[in-house]
Amino acid sequence: MQAQQSYLDPELPAARRTELLLKEMTLEEKVGQMCQYVGEVSQGRASNVDEVAGYSLLLGEKVELIRSGRVGSFLKVPGALEANYLQQQAEQTRLKIPILIGTDAIHGHGMDLGSSTIFPSPISLAASFDVGLAQRVAEATAREMRATGFHWSFSPNVDVVRDPRWGRTGETFGEDPFLAGELGAAMVVGYQGRDFSAPTNVLACTKHLVAGGVPDNVFNGSAAELSERTLREFFLPPFERTVQAGVYTLMPAHNEVNGVPCHADERLLQHELRQQWGFQGFVISDWLDIERLHSVHHVAETRRDADRLAVVAGVDMHMHGGQFFENVVSQVREGTIPEARIDEAASKILFAKFQLGLFERRYADEAEIAKTVLAPPHRELALEGARKSLVLLKNEKNLLPLTGVKSVLVTGPDADDQSLLGDWARTQPDGNVTTILAGTRALAPSGVSVEHVPTGPIAAISDEQIAAAVAAARKVDVVVLAIGENSLRDNPVRTSGENVDRATLEPPGRQLELMRALAGAGKPIVVVLVNGAPIASEWMVEHAAALIEAWEPGMHGGTAVAEVLFGRYNPSGKLPMTVPRSTGHIKIFYNYRPSAYHRGKFRYSESAPLFEFGHGLSFTTFTYRDLRVPEQLTIGTPLQVEVEVENTGDRAGDEVVLLYLQDVYASVTRPVKELKGFQRVSLEPHQKQVVRFELPPEAFTLLDRDMKRTTEPGEFRLSVGARALERSVWLKRAGD
Ligand code: GLC
Repeated sequence: MQAQQSYLDPELPAARRTELLLKEMTLEEKVGQMCQYVGEVSQGRASNVDEVAGYSLLLGEKVELIRSGRVGSFLKVPGALEANYLQQQAEQTRLKIPILIGTDAIHGHGMDLGSSTIFPSPISLAASFDVGLAQRVAEATAREMRATGFHWSFSPNVDVVRDPRWGRTGETFGEDPFLAGELGAAMVVGYQGRDFSAPTNVLACTKHLVAGGVPDNVFNGSAAELSERTLREFFLPPFERTVQAGVYTLMPAHNEVNGVPCHADERLLQHELRQQWGFQGFVISDWLDIERLHSVHHVAETRRDADRLAVVAGVDMHMHGGQFFENVVSQVREGTIPEARIDEAASKILFAKFQLGLFERRYADEAEIAKTVLAPPHRELALEGARKSLVLLKNEKNLLPLTGVKSVLVTGPDADDQSLLGDWARTQPDGNVTTILAGTRALAPSGVSVEHVPTGPIAAISDEQIAAAVAAARKVDVVVLAIGENSLRDNPVRTSGENVDRATLEPPGRQLELMRALAGAGKPIVVVLVNGAPIASEWMVEHAAALIEAWEPGMHGGTAVAEVLFGRYNPSGKLPMTVPRSTGHIKIFYNYRPSAYHRGKFRYSESAPLFEFGHGLSFTTFTYRDLRVPEQLTIGTPLQVEVEVENTGDRAGDEVVLLYLQDVYASVTRPVKELKGFQRVSLEPHQKQVVRFELPPEAFTLLDRDMKRTTEPGEFRLSVGARALERSVWLKRAGD
């Protein structure tokens, strides 16, 4: 007689344990696993009161819900102590099912602890074009999460952005689907490892499916209207790429696409995601977005209808708040929600808990926390990421590196501010963060004085501060002006970030006025931009002697900036976003259709962007030669590409080699170029390296007029490097 197997047996595989547990569960307990609540209200921080019904949950109510088996997950839990407390309550339930604790750890575990390693934001990582770096950032973040009792990061955000006024641009990888897909996939592997079974793995969560980055009127969550072709050619691929990488959870977008809210789109969440792409995990709703099917999108006449629409469409877990439990249980009982849907949802969630080892390892260990959070290798990684993400946009007369100067003024609202941490990070202890001022002071060569005049915050630069900065500028050799944005999550006057969208791409507030005044002092100005989305100002670019795009470089960003200022590091980042000439030039992106500019003339303005996608200068120079591809290629075979890159300057440097492909003539219009490969190479002075790429057959496919994926024979043009070394290859059918 086979001994009765128990789901509590850690020797059994997760799938078997899931089966055994599901059999023992009541309907209420299964639906309970689909419910997530907010953790931090118990700390008295009322910031998470449910905006729909003034819903808030005090600790006593929360404990009651857990004890009655009605909670599967928490988010916004302020730290390890609360996480352990919640797990203790769950361990006293009938089935002892642990709580899955999620958080927005998108570039470090920056939201729920007092202090942790804050890495460069996703747009910064995108500018590094370094897949390995992105993976290692996710791995380190996962280690700090698991040490503190957190198991699930709502990351990567692989939204493709075509309107940089969208406040969330900084938490994405920019405008290119290939780059977003490769970096997103790397972070999935970094968070989850091979199968999220190691004690340092967490669940990843691809978001937000789909098209939040092209909101109709810029506002986060507003409608997106896109053709099926544009959706499939540009916006869906990065999501599919992360599913191929094994992502286990996914979050739909707030917005609707072409009239259908993503949270109620069965075609998207069941057909596309599960049947077409083979997604095996579970779908978590975004904040209040099931409720908004009723309260905002008006596709559900009642909240109860909204819960049913979302669950039937494929949402497996409700992010936060009440009513969902009762509404789902009652509708299963009346037969309008199939119980099979509940079984599918609950089993996906339970599988994750078994696979993560939560039944055996549910508590955070203080000793582990001390060893892991802010560990030196993590801080070194944060500095490495900041260095690789900085983009040198302009360097007139090779002003940088600053040599021979005796005095520098550092000023501007972002000069001595934690704004360089970016969004989804709370203010950190000052000692953990190196601001641009602190970095400049620390690294200034001996004999170079560093003056500072505070001119912040962005929204309140005063006349007196401007006058003081100008007076100081008159006495120094060079001005370092740190301007841009501030998306720091708990900054009371943040100027970008989630739900802080912009009507203009110009630097907000009086920052340009400050720069104009400083220009009057007649000293060269090095502008350092701190921002999550491109800043567009022709005047600023024209009057900056040098321009460093620092993005949101994280806790050691000030050190990385200073290393570039004084030549201790040779900048190597490239733009993952086109920088429009002005707000009026939106939408502008590099992978445009051939007709985009055939009449491209504005009255009184250039049509070209301020800076192209892929632009980035170095303190050395690189030459590309011998781009080699076969003249012909049979459809269905991979293409081998080689190009030689030489460092033709006198100092070492990294070069990001970008490989583009163009389908020259096709049955449908094709982008003038599409990124299909990138590699970062480190070269000593006068060192050469042959860089090799292999393009899979899928790189040459298109969606024909019937939206069927196919490959058409004909000329394909490859290009690499800033001066676009080009070669053609002719694709032919086998046997032609
Ligand atoms: C927000 C965001 C989402 C985030 C979630 C939890 O509304 O859209 O990206 O993960 O809430 O904080």
